Amino acid sequence: MPVKLDNREPLSWVNATGDDDTMLQNLQANILKGHVRDHLHILLLQFGAGEQGATEARDFLTRLAPLVKSAKTQLKELEEHRLNGTPGTPYVGVGLTRLGYERLGLPSDRTPSDDAFLRGMRDPGTRDKLGDPETAQWEDGFQKEIHAVVLVGDEKSADADARLQEVEALLPGSVQVVGRERGRALHDAAGRGIEHFGYVDGRSQPLFLTEDLDQERRQQDGTSVWDPFQPLERVLVTDPAAPNPGTDFGSYFVLRKLEQNVRAFREAEEELADALKLVNSDRERAGAMIVGRFKDGTPLTLQSRPGAHSPVMNDFTYASDGAADKCPFQAHIRKTNPRGSGGFGSPDGERRHLMARRGQTYGERVDGDLPEGDVGLLFMAFNSDLGNQFEFTQQTWANNDAFPKSGEEPAPGLDQVIGQGERPPATWPRVWGEPEGQEAPAARQAVTMKGGEYFFMPSLPFLRGA
Ligand code: HEM
Repeated sequence: MPVKLDNREPLSWVNATGDDDTMLQNLQANILKGHVRDHLHILLLQFGAGEQGATEARDFLTRLAPLVKSAKTQLKELEEHRLNGTPGTPYVGVGLTRLGYERLGLPSDRTPSDDAFLRGMRDPGTRDKLGDPETAQWEDGFQKEIHAVVLVGDEKSADADARLQEVEALLPGSVQVVGRERGRALHDAAGRGIEHFGYVDGRSQPLFLTEDLDQERRQQDGTSVWDPFQPLERVLVTDPAAPNPGTDFGSYFVLRKLEQNVRAFREAEEELADALKLVNSDRERAGAMIVGRFKDGTPLTLQSRPGAHSPVMNDFTYASDGAADKCPFQAHIRKTNPRGSGGFGSPDGERRHLMARRGQTYGERVDGDLPEGDVGLLFMAFNSDLGNQFEFTQQTWANNDAFPKSGEEPAPGLDQVIGQGERPPATWPRVWGEPEGQEAPAARQAVTMKGGEYFFMPSLPFLRGA
């Protein structure tokens, strides 16, 4: 049976047979399910020019292939870890840009064809679309022509470092490392993954596998109101350069280095609390109105205060908050996933814009400091259609002050975390759940894009035969 990407039933990896099972063996890890890794190395690579450059780059990919983890291995390792505590092996993943495919000498009909992928992130058209700064303001590595990315991650720093060395040992002279990033996970006191502003991150994800949906129902808060299931077509596309279109799939990968000014964000929280005259413990609500969740992950639309933290809730929509007098429209998680309140008519119209986020924090912190730079998020996400998922979310939702109330005054405002552009004042619920909102200045922008690129994460058979 061919793999059905549009299947409305999730795939069970445990019971997968035939082409489904081959697909999981041929697909890179981290796409269908986030790979656990507190430590992550990212190498940005440039291949050499000409025939020799192409031969050496192809040879590098072939020799890298045995280190690249498959989805099947990742899922089996996780299961063994759950049952016997056996630690998994490090994650290695690899992606190519359009220019990378060109250097390998592949004809255009064997190159992934997504529009945004073909344009690239440095393209002025892309920057215009996303509201990104001029490339001259990006970090050095991202200003260069990038042909490939290699991700190396592990729970333990030493194991990630050792695997990175193995990867580096495979690099031929003609392949230059033009940039390096180092991701380090942050955790709160309860061990949950947080980002630099201090909020639990990575909770809400599209789920593709039966086992993950079962776990969400049994061990998390359920799926009765918000169904996180998405068909495989939301994240997989046929790998056009692989031998077997029926079993060899890949995914478009977004990488964006987003610097976080922690001091500016903290000040924005205080300014909003002052402007709305919030007092005592209710002042915490200011930050929650910017993000849409309290620091411990409690969704603001469900509760006026934190505390619903075990497990972090995700089974909610904004159905009982249509006027946004609990969670404002401009809150980050409401802008980037309106959960049926975005005015699309059908929830499906909206859901197809969601993507599989796999971000990782970077930068070192000393307890209690409020860095103004050098820390942030290595935003990473897998998509099957960059224009309709990542770009749509950033451009049409986050950067669009009118969404989701087009034509109505006052406009809801930009996404208060990632919106890029002029931020007009917004309406904020001064008292949680009370209809009268109050106009107050928007939170100032504390996230700056420092560079990024679009890649295609090809199938393992392509890498082996590159
Ligand atoms: C430094 C930048 C960013 C920060 C600090 C940040 C922070 C957060 C936090 C704290 C959450 C809540 C945790 C969760 O629900 O999983 C979240 C969720 C989310 N973020 Fe971001 N984020 C950033 C960048 C982005 C970007 C660039 C996008 C896409 C363009 C994005 C899209 C989303 C989506 C789709 C969700 C899940 C919303 C939901 O399903 O309810 N984020 N983010």
